[in-house]
Amino acid sequence: MRLLLIGAPGSGKGTQADLLASRFGIAHISSGDLLRQHVREQTSFGQLVKKYVDMGDLVPDSLVMDILRKPVLAATNGYVLDGFPRTVAQAETAYAVVHPLGAEVQAAIHLDVPHPELVRRLLARGRGADDTAEVIEHRLQVYDEMTVPLLDYYAGREWMFAVDGTQPPQEVHEDIVRRIQKLKSFTAPR
Ligand code: AP5
Repeated sequence: MRLLLIGAPGSGKGTQADLLASRFGIAHISSGDLLRQHVREQTSFGQLVKKYVDMGDLVPDSLVMDILRKPVLAATNGYVLDGFPRTVAQAETAYAVVHPLGAEVQAAIHLDVPHPELVRRLLARGRGADDTAEVIEHRLQVYDEMTVPLLDYYAGREWMFAVDGTQPPQEVHEDIVRRIQKLKSFTAPR
């Protein structure tokens, strides 16, 4: 099973990816977590990406692809990707890598949450440099400019759907599972 979670900062991608990974025994691969781990450990890669992560800007595509290639190709039981792709260019590059391997994504899930609720959640969480009011506002702008076009790009594909991300986490999860199980050509384990 190969899934993508797309949503604004604070929409619950990490929360839902954890639930899906446990339910289906697949790997949770978070571009943000991988980047933050490098920043925390002060690797040379971490030093390169820190300024983007702290400011809420997108890390250049080539660096993100570098960090994801290995875990994605290693996830032979399947994966749920949280935070990637974030742009049409990233989606096109990823497709070119996985298509020859027959490992294209099987479902893309958009977690739909309105702006004020996103801000409320992120301020309440206060993860670090990127959860201040100013940086949160910038991250939401970057999402509107760079990631909303990705939703338009995927719109109309049979394997793309949106769920109401304002419900409690377990209800969002059950909605996602119901929708996955309804997809044609998709036999999800129960
Ligand atoms: P990333 O880590 O992906 O951050 P994000 O997209 O800003 O999302 P968050 O992790 O803040 O939120 P989430 O949607 O995962 O929600 P969560 O479950 O945590 O990226 C960080 C940075 O890395 C980017 O800014 C960029 O610099 C870089 N980066 C990452 N990927 C990149 C890429 N592909 N290309 C380029 N750069 C990239 O929940 C948030 C809070 O809400 C939590 O407190 C949670 O408990 C709560 N919550 C969750 N669900 C619910 C619910 N249903 N009801 C109430 N509260 C809820």
